[in-house]
Amino acid sequence: MKNSIDAPYGAPDKVRKICLRYANRGSDLIEVLHDVQAVLGFVDETTQKEIAEALNITRAEVHGVISFYDDFRSEAAPGTIVRVCRGEACQSMGAENLLPVAEELTKGRPRIGVEAVYCLGNCALAPAVTVGGTLHGRVEKDHLVAIVEHAALADEASE
Ligand code: FES
Repeated sequence: MKNSIDAPYGAPDKVRKICLRYANRGSDLIEVLHDVQAVLGFVDETTQKEIAEALNITRAEVHGVISFYDDFRSEAAPGTIVRVCRGEACQSMGAENLLPVAEELTKGRPRIGVEAVYCLGNCALAPAVTVGGTLHGRVEKDHLVAIVEHAALADEASE
């Protein structure tokens, strides 16, 4: 079943910034896709088109890489995904303590997933986490518990 969730608000700007980070080089497509997925959670058709235009490659090339690698998703995962950044800036600000908390909070909740990612583009406000595509900065344990519980309640209510 197709998940009808669109890319998060502001996605085109984020995609353009990520492509620029790699100087719009088509040879860095995989790195661009990893970073885009880390920020947006998936790389939908609209985003694939934006990436292709920015990197001056074809949509078929972008789609081909996404289809080939299991790591990439072209649709939002069902339910809510909690992404905990384990990039260098976030690690130095205590992110390593957040991942086990997120995993514990989501145990027994099949509609909430946890993923470790490596830079959400929010290093200045480390440690960073996204919950359901919303970016949170300077996240401490209590804050993480509150936002994950809130997201879980909202997700259950929407079923
Ligand atoms: S290292 Fe975590 S947001 Fe950049």
